[in-house]
Amino acid sequence: MIDHLNSIPIYIGQVKNYKMHLDILDQYINDDSYFGSVNGWISDVKTTFQQTQNRDLPWQIILEDLNKYIQEYLEVLSPVSEYHYKTHMWMNRYSKGEYMEPHDHISKSDQISFAYILNSQGQNNFVFENRVDWINSFDNNDLRSTLFTNLPVNSYIPEQKDGTLLIFPSSTIHYVTPNTSNDLRITISGNISIKVGNYFVDERDAALKTKDVKVLDI
Ligand SMILES: [Fe+2]
Repeated sequence: MIDHLNSIPIYIGQVKNYKMHLDILDQYINDDSYFGSVNGWISDVKTTFQQTQNRDLPWQIILEDLNKYIQEYLEVLSPVSEYHYKTHMWMNRYSKGEYMEPHDHISKSDQISFAYILNSQGQNNFVFENRVDWINSFDNNDLRSTLFTNLPVNSYIPEQKDGTLLIFPSSTIHYVTPNTSNDLRITISGNISIKVGNYFVDERDAALKTKDVKVLDI
């Protein structure tokens, strides 16, 4: 038999009430006081990540709607006991020409990440990258075009209608190509930290005091 190593589960769906989420974020999208640049990012995209006021955005309302999609994704991993997770979310605002370089969301505590594309401006800018040197060796020698027709792909670009939700392992490398529209491309990014049982119950009070970390029981 031939099996495959490193199959990566990626959820691709469309959130039904994304327009409501855009509506409740509307008052913040054009308010520069919520946005900034991030030290260490090559990209100058404006984001609420690491901005103090990120905690004041209505994340809880949005997260409660995303919950069922996140659970659907986690079911693929076949959980066998109770678990809880907490989520950290932020908003990104891409003006014309702005992009995001290849990166992952690896951290000690987060296992799952997501990108929620509220306004794509009709573009498929979000790209998953599959950095496997084995694949590159075929591409570098033109074997993909001249010999093999069923090689793994180096990148994967899902269709990105407004409201598209992508959920993926935090280790998955991805990037965003430049926004070619004169209007803003709006996305939400997030990380999910999962614990067995009700571990987060003990942390809940402290987490909610910061208002930056949302704790949900599922
Ligand atoms: Fe990202």
